[in-house]
Amino acid sequence: MGTQTAITFVLWMSLYTQFSTALYSSKLVHRFSEEAVSYWSSKGKNITLPKLGSLEHMKVLLSSDLKRQKLKLGSQDRLLIPSQGSETFFYGNDMGWLHYTWIDIGTPNVSFLVALDAGSDLFWVPCRCIQCAPLSSSYYSMLDRDLSEYEPSRSSTSKPLSCSHQLCELGLNCQSPNGSCPYSVNYSENTSSSGLLFEDQLYLTSSGGGAPEGSIQAQVIIGCGSKQSGSDLDGSAPDGLLGLGPGKIAIPSLLARSGLVPHSFSYCFDNSYSGRMYFGDQGPATQRSTTFVPYKGEYSGYFIEVEDYCIGSFCLKQNGFQAQVDSGSSFTYLPSEDYKLFVAEFDKQMNATRSGIEKFPYCYKARSHGQPDVPSMKFKFALNQSFVIENPMFHIIDYQGDDLYCLGIQPLDGGIGIIGQNFMMGYRLVFDWENLKLGWSHSNCQDIRDSDRVHLTPSPNSAVNPLPTNEQQRTPGGHAVVPAVARRAPEESSAALSVHILYNHYCKTSLLLLHLTLWLPFW
Ligand SMILES: *[C@@H]1O[C@H](CO)[C@@H](O)[C@H](O)[C@H]1NC(C)=O
Ligand SMILES: *[C@@H]1O[C@H](CO)[C@@H](O)[C@H](O)[C@H]1NC(C)=O
Ligand SMILES: *[C@@H]1O[C@H](CO)[C@@H](O)[C@H](O)[C@H]1NC(C)=O
Ligand SMILES: *[C@@H]1O[C@H](CO)[C@@H](O)[C@H](O)[C@H]1NC(C)=O
Ligand SMILES: *[C@@H]1O[C@H](CO)[C@@H](O)[C@H](O)[C@H]1NC(C)=O
Ligand SMILES: *[C@@H]1O[C@H](CO)[C@@H](O)[C@H](O)[C@H]1NC(C)=O
Ligand SMILES: *[C@@H]1O[C@H](CO)[C@@H](O)[C@H](O)[C@H]1NC(C)=O
Repeated sequence: MGTQTAITFVLWMSLYTQFSTALYSSKLVHRFSEEAVSYWSSKGKNITLPKLGSLEHMKVLLSSDLKRQKLKLGSQDRLLIPSQGSETFFYGNDMGWLHYTWIDIGTPNVSFLVALDAGSDLFWVPCRCIQCAPLSSSYYSMLDRDLSEYEPSRSSTSKPLSCSHQLCELGLNCQSPNGSCPYSVNYSENTSSSGLLFEDQLYLTSSGGGAPEGSIQAQVIIGCGSKQSGSDLDGSAPDGLLGLGPGKIAIPSLLARSGLVPHSFSYCFDNSYSGRMYFGDQGPATQRSTTFVPYKGEYSGYFIEVEDYCIGSFCLKQNGFQAQVDSGSSFTYLPSEDYKLFVAEFDKQMNATRSGIEKFPYCYKARSHGQPDVPSMKFKFALNQSFVIENPMFHIIDYQGDDLYCLGIQPLDGGIGIIGQNFMMGYRLVFDWENLKLGWSHSNCQDIRDSDRVHLTPSPNSAVNPLPTNEQQRTPGGHAVVPAVARRAPEESSAALSVHILYNHYCKTSLLLLHLTLWLPFW
């Protein structure tokens, strides 16, 4: 993979910057700015301002930060982030077109660059390798050090998960109840990981809630992945995969059961394809949301019900479908029938020369100034909640050297859709399993803690609290979920179910990815 660095496949990005301050759009005047001083003197108050940039100025700023941190005490829920930070990374063709983050596990700690996947539950890393992806940095152009292999016996805090443990799904395959629990996850026809399960420590940093940033060790379940196959081997998850699904074995659930944070997490992918991830985040009060729905009678994944969808001003009503929200999918998939309606309408509204490429029939020639105009698109959910797709197009250069912009949507058999990474960009997406709802709000993916600070900065001229704009309207009926339903987590059937789902989408996604990465270098 690493040798294909001629990145002919450049995703198009723009449009997002306009949202960067959408959430906090009321005029902010810093308390120590010149403007603030003149404001206060007009009110007859004599405030002295240390010289801008002077040591005094910095001291005042620092002490005001500290005061504000005290103010926040107890007023805000604690968030947890991986010990190396909340950042997530995207490497395009150099890895598998997924988002990745660094995490530390074990004692002494070892770091892994894991793929983030909201479509599965298990967290596994390469370990006691029989068949693993290459771990040498020479395979990956963006890495300056080799990837690691986990060895449980070298970690003083590791212990095997016993076959009799309630989270050992393959316990029946064990020789003795005291044995080590085996696991096997199939993501697609030929993509899988298998090995033994261990318990060990995951290092996190806590922030928010007024508490000083502190290191936290959480006991989690880790798959010692000895044998990987398919795209796990080809490079989409060379250093492990962090399942963020709702299942009991997944990290969000384990953190919640340890009482560390609510059973919720968020991530945000920005226009430059980096992003942020927070455990315990339930999102701003102003976010929009929709409830998760059962799939085939079970709450086993992040499924939502799209009631209808609009392209430009044309809305296809009574064409709802269920979709899984899945960061492990690079593109978005619509059920085949909906796909046909969708692309037909889309194509009708595009005033550009179409020039499809293999797998992506809806590509259009670039205009001299870049991307041709694309009709707006949105999904509509119950309670009049809508989700605007910021940009469904990606940029590619074809064999002839033409600039093309392609619709990143694919058809999927089986009646359900998948909302992939390309539709999530520009949003902070909250997967709140505690309240069984998906929340979203525009975000530039700055550190949430920074934006909280901006949010809390007292603005001298805000005698009236800024009202939420339409964009910030409060979610109606956010508590409409029957709690009893939320508790009914069907872990027995979830494995089979997610295998089934993943089978479909992972396979297709991976195939696409491989396809693209294979033919582009020859061009
Ligand atoms: C403001 O206070 C400073 C010192 O506290 C004083 O020197 C200055 O004269 C005062 N200005 C006014 C307008 O009261
Ligand atoms: C990981 O280990 C290194 C070396 O012992 C130590 O400096 C670092 O603080 C550890 N990281 C965490 C998150 O505990
Ligand atoms: C399993 O472990 C228990 C206690 O650790 C022990 O009493 C029992 O004999 C073990 N059983 C087997 C089959 O090893
Ligand atoms: C995964 O697929 C392999 C081979 O097709 C099969 O042997 C195994 O039982 C499957 N595992 C699960 C958990 O379905
Ligand atoms: C999976 O592997 C089998 C045997 O190697 C091959 O025939 C099949 O085409 C592969 N399927 C996919 C989706 O790659
Ligand atoms: C395409 O052209 C028509 C007619 O000029 C216009 O109404 C429509 O908005 C255009 N579509 C886009 C996506 O700009
Ligand atoms: C739904 O929202 C749209 C705009 O977002 C608004 O025009 C419409 O009146 C709303 N409908 C209901 C029933 O609230």
